[in-house]
Amino acid sequence: MKIGAATPIKKGRLEVVCGSMFSGKTEELMRKIKRSEYARQRVLVLKPQIDNRKSVTCIVSHDGRSRTAHALDSSDVAIQSVIEFAQAFDVIGIDEVQFFPDEIVRVIGKLIEMGKHVVAAGLDLDFRGEPFGIMPYLLAIADDVLKLKAICVVCAKDAHQTQRLVNGQPARYSDPIILVGAEDFYEARCRNCFVIDRTPSVLPVTQGLV
Ligand code: TMP
Ligand code: MG
Ligand code: ZN
Repeated sequence: MKIGAATPIKKGRLEVVCGSMFSGKTEELMRKIKRSEYARQRVLVLKPQIDNRKSVTCIVSHDGRSRTAHALDSSDVAIQSVIEFAQAFDVIGIDEVQFFPDEIVRVIGKLIEMGKHVVAAGLDLDFRGEPFGIMPYLLAIADDVLKLKAICVVCAKDAHQTQRLVNGQPARYSDPIILVGAEDFYEARCRNCFVIDRTPSVLPVTQGLV
């Protein structure tokens, strides 16, 4: 290295924990965070404000464990504020990352450039069995991906899909993607037991008939 040259910042990395609901993503995020804390790393935990299921100020796993988190709204300004905020931390944990808009991908990229270790947990698939929002992008740029599976409530095989049930019936394909909830609307299912109702919710307008 040239004498007097600035020491280059060592880049950070991105770990993504994905999988269906009830597969243990938040528990795994908490485990990773705890390990970092044992190593005296400074950890910042973030979550989207929209996830208000059990707490607005904590991330909460399905087994009831919780940990304080900073809730961010989905505006670009709020997401960009993380860059400043994160300066004082080594590890940035993000839960329910699938709910954030595109800007989170740019901000995560910036955090990695700044040398931060980012651990993001989120659903890879939505209730239709399709990639959830920004998740395909995060999975592609991640250094490490951990795909967790749940157990299918119907046949007890490994489950990687999330079944949404409305009044006990499979949700319709055209239903809104975002519906915050837990056992009240969702269960883990394998590919064979997963059902989606593809009938349109509004009958198509028939034109040109006399
Ligand atoms: P979990 O992965 O920590 O269990 O939480 C997933 C959250 O995402 C939960 O609030 C339900 C919500 N969700 C949607 O909004 N749309 C979906 O298609 C699915 C599968 C879950
Ligand atoms: Mg969770
Ligand atoms: Zn099954």
